[in-house]
Amino acid sequence: MRTSGVLVSLLLLGCGSSKPAPKTVATPGDATPAPAPAPGNNVPAPAPGKPVAKSLYDRLGGLPAITAVVDEFVTRTTTDARIKDRFFNTDADNLKKLLTEFVCMATGGPCKYSGRDMTSTHAGMDMVDDEFTALVEDLVGALDKFKVPDKEKGELLGALGPLKPQIVVAADKLHPVADAKLAPVTKLAAGLKDKAAQDLLTMAVTAAKRGQLSYAEQLFSRAEMAAGAKTVASVASVFRAGAPTRVTTATKKLEDKGPQAKTAGGSDADEPDKKPAKGSLNGSLMINGKAPEGLGVVMLWPKAGGKKRTPKQRIIEQRGKEFAPHVMAVPVGSTISFPNFDPIYHNVFSLSKSKAFDLGLYKSGETRDVKLDKPGIIRLGCNLHASMSAYLVVVDAPNYVIPDADGKFSFKSLAPGKYKVQAWNERSGDPTTSEIEIKEGANETKLDLKGGAVTLSPDKFGNARQ
Ligand code: HEM
Repeated sequence: MRTSGVLVSLLLLGCGSSKPAPKTVATPGDATPAPAPAPGNNVPAPAPGKPVAKSLYDRLGGLPAITAVVDEFVTRTTTDARIKDRFFNTDADNLKKLLTEFVCMATGGPCKYSGRDMTSTHAGMDMVDDEFTALVEDLVGALDKFKVPDKEKGELLGALGPLKPQIVVAADKLHPVADAKLAPVTKLAAGLKDKAAQDLLTMAVTAAKRGQLSYAEQLFSRAEMAAGAKTVASVASVFRAGAPTRVTTATKKLEDKGPQAKTAGGSDADEPDKKPAKGSLNGSLMINGKAPEGLGVVMLWPKAGGKKRTPKQRIIEQRGKEFAPHVMAVPVGSTISFPNFDPIYHNVFSLSKSKAFDLGLYKSGETRDVKLDKPGIIRLGCNLHASMSAYLVVVDAPNYVIPDADGKFSFKSLAPGKYKVQAWNERSGDPTTSEIEIKEGANETKLDLKGGAVTLSPDKFGNARQ
C-alpha cells in the first residue's frame, strides 16, 4: 500500500513520534524487525556520538516514512535517463524491499538487512562517479519531495557516502574505447527509426567511452534485440572485440522439471560396470591438509585399457541467480543445455581454452546448447551477475568422480593395476597429477591440493571484476 503524501511528510518532519505507526498508515514493507540493530553486511553504523533522544530512524519517521522515501527513490532511479538502464534486469520490488531494510538498519532502526554486501552487489558493474552522483541526486530529490529537514537529509547522505569506494570502480580498472572507433556507432544511431534502439546505442557509446566494456556490450545487446541483429551488425565488433565467440543459434524452450542438484556426473553413477572389477578405491581430496571449501573432481586413467565413456546430454540451469549443478563432470563429446529459469536475463560465457563461448542474453525457460569436443575444465560465468559461477569438467578419463562436500570419494569398480590420477578443486587452480597402484580388494588414498585460486571470475573480456 502507498502512504499518503501528507501523512508521510508529517512523519518525515518528525511531527509523529517513535511510536508504531497506526495501521492505516504505510505498511512497513517486508522489512523484518530484529531485536537490536546489528551493523553488518557493510551497512553503515549510525553515527557515533553522545546519546541522543531519538535515532535518525525515528526522526525520519520510522519504517513507514523510509518505505515511502525508498519507493520514490527507486521510481526516480529507474526512470532517470542517466542511470535507468542499470536497472533494466532488476526486480524493482525486491530492490525496494532490500533498500528499505538497508536504510532502516543504517539509521538505527529495528530491521535486519537481508541482502548482499555492497562490494558483492555492485561487483562487475564498473560503476563511475557520474552514476553515483546521479543516484545521490535521485535520493535527494526523494527526500526533498517529502520535505525532510536538511539536518536529517545530511545525516542520511553522510551515512551512505562512505560506501562509495565499495560501489564505484577505480579509474585505472576501466578500459575506454577510442572516440574514432565509436564514431560509426553514433552515425548509425542517428539514422535509426527505432527510438529505443537509438537511445540504447547512444548509452552504449557513453559506457564504452567511459571504459565500461561489459555494460556497453549489454546495452548493445539490448539495442540488437530492439532493432534486430542485422540492423546493428556493422558495429557489433566495436562492443564485442575481446569477448569469446558468440553462439547465435536460435534459442529453444526447455520445460522446467525442477531444480538441478549441486553436483552431477561420475563414471560409476552414469555407466556402472555390469560385472564389477576386482579393485575399489576410497579417498579424500583435501586442500592444504583440510576438507575443501569448494567442489572438485578426481579422474583416473589406467596405464593399460580402460573404457571409453559415452557422451551425455546434460543441463546446467540458471535459477535464483545461481548455476546448478555448480560442478558437473561429463565425457568428451557431451552436449550441455543452458536453460535460464529466472525471469531476468543472464549471459553465460566461458573464457576457458578448451571451449570459449558467449551465449548472449535470454531468460524464462529459454536455452542454448554447447557441444564439448575437447577435455578440460570450463569455468562458467554470467556477465550480468559477477557472483554466479560454475565448472564443467570435460573428461577423457575412463573413471571419474565428484567428491562430496567433505572431499570424500569412492570408485566402486577398478581393474587392478597402475593408474594416472588427476585431482582438481575449484579453489586449487590447475589439476595436480600423481600415480596410484590399485590392488585387488579395497584401496585407500589421500589427495592434498594447494589452495589459493581466485574465486570471482573475470568478466567476458577477461578483465578482473571488482
Ligand atoms: C550509496 C549508494 C548505494 C547503495 C546504498 C546501494 C544499495 C543497494 C542495495 C541494498 C542493493 C540490493 C542488494 C542485493 O541485491 O542483495 C543494490 C542493488 C543494486 N544497485 Fe545499488 N546501491 C548504491 C549505489 C548504486 C549505484 C550508483 C547504482 C547504479 C547507478 C546501483 C545499482 C544497483 C543495481 C543495478 C542493483 C541490482 C543488482 C541486481 O539486480 O542484482 N547502486 N544496491
